[in-house]
Amino acid sequence: MLIGSYTLVSPVILAPMAGITDAPFRRICLESGAGLVVSEMVSARDDLRETDLSRRRYEPDSWNPIPVVQLLGADPRSMAEAARYAQGCGAAIVDVNFGCPARKVCGMACGSAIMANEPLAREILEAVAGAVSIPVTVKMRTGWDAGHRNALELARMAEGAGFSAVTIHGRTRSDLFRGEAEYETIANAVKALRIPVVANGDITDPDKAQRVLAATAAAGVMIGRAAYGSPWMLGRVGAVLSGGADPGEPDLRQAGRIVLRHLRYHLEYWGETLAAVRTFRKHAIRYLERFGGKEPARALAKESDAGTVRRMLEEFFELEDGQ
Ligand SMILES: Cc1cc2nc3c(=O)[nH]c(=O)nc-3n(C[C@H](O)[C@H](O)[C@H](O)COP(=O)(O)O)c2cc1C
Repeated sequence: MLIGSYTLVSPVILAPMAGITDAPFRRICLESGAGLVVSEMVSARDDLRETDLSRRRYEPDSWNPIPVVQLLGADPRSMAEAARYAQGCGAAIVDVNFGCPARKVCGMACGSAIMANEPLAREILEAVAGAVSIPVTVKMRTGWDAGHRNALELARMAEGAGFSAVTIHGRTRSDLFRGEAEYETIANAVKALRIPVVANGDITDPDKAQRVLAATAAAGVMIGRAAYGSPWMLGRVGAVLSGGADPGEPDLRQAGRIVLRHLRYHLEYWGETLAAVRTFRKHAIRYLERFGGKEPARALAKESDAGTVRRMLEEFFELEDGQ
């Protein structure tokens, strides 16, 4: 799959998930077989740019050959300025968020709310595309409610403005995360556009990914929640989509090595602080639960010492020697 001048090694993309897909998790996902990993959304407002979190979200990851910064905002000028800033920081691709269903983020109606205002959407798309020389992409929902599925119109707008790819989550804004994703709107966009369309929503495993690609003929798939606690799912899906065999779930010790590497990256990136242990615990609990460790997950949820968390994980994943 091509995005502008970039060739992805796999058409499986890690979805941006605020609060989950921070740099250490993205690194684990890239190493687990994702073809591209998208940063968590960052506000385009320049007055918020100097916060530690914003700075980290603009910062390109040294290990990442194609860093993608996702921008959220409703003002075309500040979106354009933020895109220029992201390019200046070293982003390889800028992604525009037309998908966030929150009513207001940072006091602004943005994300998928913009899908209900097509003239504004056009202004934002044209401003962002005109501001940078790197590829720009957009992620959207199918529309704002069941009666207004305008993803196709917006995707055409993006293509006309010079965008290099479009990702569509098969739900409307008013669906939030309820019900099942539908793929017909995505299939229609694939038929109508020349640029790559990426299908997103409820892709949980290689079989579902194959069915979604068969139904949509999309150029790639984007996976979010199914990678949380299972980053190896990205590699499993990638293997099958490239015509190979499904390597299956890792065994306990193989998974444990990935989990401990994730912990190491996390602490290197965020420091050995209480806050860092807390943010890692969410991931650790997911990993433990995936392997049936409900009790250890409950015990780990109360731990605030990095060394103790590491030892608990080593014990559960039978890696007492850390190997
Ligand atoms: C906790 C959480 C945070 C999310 N944050 C973002 C975000 O920052 N930007 C964005 O475009 N989508 C965001 N999303 C939506 C996902 O990228 C994705 O479109 C959605 O989860 C559907 O894909 P999935 O079924 O594979 O999870 C978020 C989703 C979740 C669950």
